[in-house]
Amino acid sequence: MSVPDVQIAPSVLPADFSRLGETVEELEQAGADRIHWDVMDGVFVPNLTIGPDVIHSCRPRIEIPFEAHLMVIDADELVPRYVEAGCDLILVHQEACVHLHRTLQNIRDLGVSPGVVLNPATPASTIEHVMDLVDQVLVMTVNPGFGGQAYIETMEHKIRQVAEMIATSGRDIDLEVDGGLAVPTVAAPAEAGANVVVAGSAVFKDPDGFHHAISAIRDAALAARA
Ligand code: DX5
Ligand code: ZN
Repeated sequence: MSVPDVQIAPSVLPADFSRLGETVEELEQAGADRIHWDVMDGVFVPNLTIGPDVIHSCRPRIEIPFEAHLMVIDADELVPRYVEAGCDLILVHQEACVHLHRTLQNIRDLGVSPGVVLNPATPASTIEHVMDLVDQVLVMTVNPGFGGQAYIETMEHKIRQVAEMIATSGRDIDLEVDGGLAVPTVAAPAEAGANVVVAGSAVFKDPDGFHHAISAIRDAALAARA
């Protein structure tokens, strides 16, 4: 099956956690390209969320990839747990990894895709020397820790910078954005180079349901990239 030009990765942070299995099935049926699991340890960010066992219990329910956004202070310790849980892509924060180059290599050695995440204040230049190791760069468009925050427009310059770094690398690297993305906000980051869009509130709060939300966000992003 061909990969769409723009992928939508719903975050399940806003979900009713008592029905996660049914919810990921509904999201897959509604056209989600992957599931974005927001993992928070209460230290790197002031919130505590999803452990590996929760993800492991949902893995058999659907086929689409799982990506773990590790908002944790000790990624090296936790990465293997989320790989064992069935995550296909592991996203670690540049700010949390003292030895980022080795952490990314370790993720690749575990047989899954490494990704690196940049907080709003973190320059794109900080990942200049790991572009050969990653399959994805995630540019945060909110400060991590909570869903439902406002999109930070000033990130668009950084998205363009990362898109140029990807082009220069000559490698097939996805550029993902995460935070405050919805139909009204997704066009600018998509036009700037983002081809993977995380959306939590915009998907879960759409009165017309998951399929409408996912399709509308994708269509708005595709139109901006046309
Ligand atoms: C924030 C998370 C985001 C967030 C997205 O720390 O990384 O994935 O849950 O939620 P919305 O789309 O509501 O901003
Ligand atoms: Zn996230």
